[in-house]
Amino acid sequence: MEVSDSSSRILAGLLEARTGQQLTMSRRWRIETALSSLLRERGISSLDELITILVMGKEPGLASRVVEALLNNETYFFRDRTPFDLLATHALPALAKRRASSRRIRIWSAGCSTGQEAYSLAMLFAEDPTRWAGWTIDILGTDVSDGVIERARSGTYSQFEVQRGLGINQMIRWFEEGDEGWRAVEALRRTVRFQVHNILEPLPHAQPFDIVLCRNVLLYLNAEKRGLAFDRLASAMAPDGWLMLGAGETVIGQTKRLCADLSTRGFYCLNGESAAPPTDATPLRAAQGGA
Ligand SMILES: C[S@@+](CC[C@H](N)C(=O)[O-])C[C@H]1O[C@@H](n2cnc3c(N)ncnc32)[C@H](O)[C@@H]1O
Repeated sequence: MEVSDSSSRILAGLLEARTGQQLTMSRRWRIETALSSLLRERGISSLDELITILVMGKEPGLASRVVEALLNNETYFFRDRTPFDLLATHALPALAKRRASSRRIRIWSAGCSTGQEAYSLAMLFAEDPTRWAGWTIDILGTDVSDGVIERARSGTYSQFEVQRGLGINQMIRWFEEGDEGWRAVEALRRTVRFQVHNILEPLPHAQPFDIVLCRNVLLYLNAEKRGLAFDRLASAMAPDGWLMLGAGETVIGQTKRLCADLSTRGFYCLNGESAAPPTDATPLRAAQGGA
């Protein structure tokens, strides 16, 4: 299938207008692969025909399907492992002390794709039941794509997906095999909830989050949209909350509202409201690139 310059410009423009994600020239090769199954499903023979249908507005919902197909949803359980180790060994013990009176922890996985990040977080708590007995753990996963949020809500993964990042013991302990695939057990599903949300918009009705993860989402936003996204994330954080980004992502030079937490490399906190280090904190090695 031939992808003309004008077709790829229109599709890239649609993606950017809806999500802020830029499809730079070097990444436009993705268009053909990303859209081929949607074109087959709808019986559309070329990208030019697709664009004609989009422009005429003849098929409501088609533009959203195109945008969803163009988004990069790559994810897996415990992606890049170290951030989860740091959460388990540093941030969660610190929060156990700081939130001892409310016994409530709120975490936001922004740009959660099909939910593996949120379920990985739920496993961190579920694997330490004595510490978290009597606590309310609220993990919210959001994504701009309806399709991935629907999948995240189902908590059901293929054999390939469930093996990515999970050892055999974790897989058997936290997932049950059924006709549809491997479904997260009730104990995990009751800690997580999912909602469609564009990170460039305010998050409605949100209580401040103790930890916000926004990993591998902001990479392809332009500087202005990235600044806006950081504003949204910062506004959703508790004054002593932490932000975690993906490997190779940083707040430095991107926003004035957030800065690196010097006691916990790889974590970011609100500028001027630096998170009080836990009493037993020792400086940690750089966990993520760019921090
Ligand atoms: C590469 S995945 C990363 C998933 C997960 N955070 C991880 O690191 O494994 C990026 C996700 O960000 C979502 N996304 C892109 N732009 C977004 C936006 N403006 N608002 C919310 N989610 C967005 C995409 O739909 C995709 O599911």
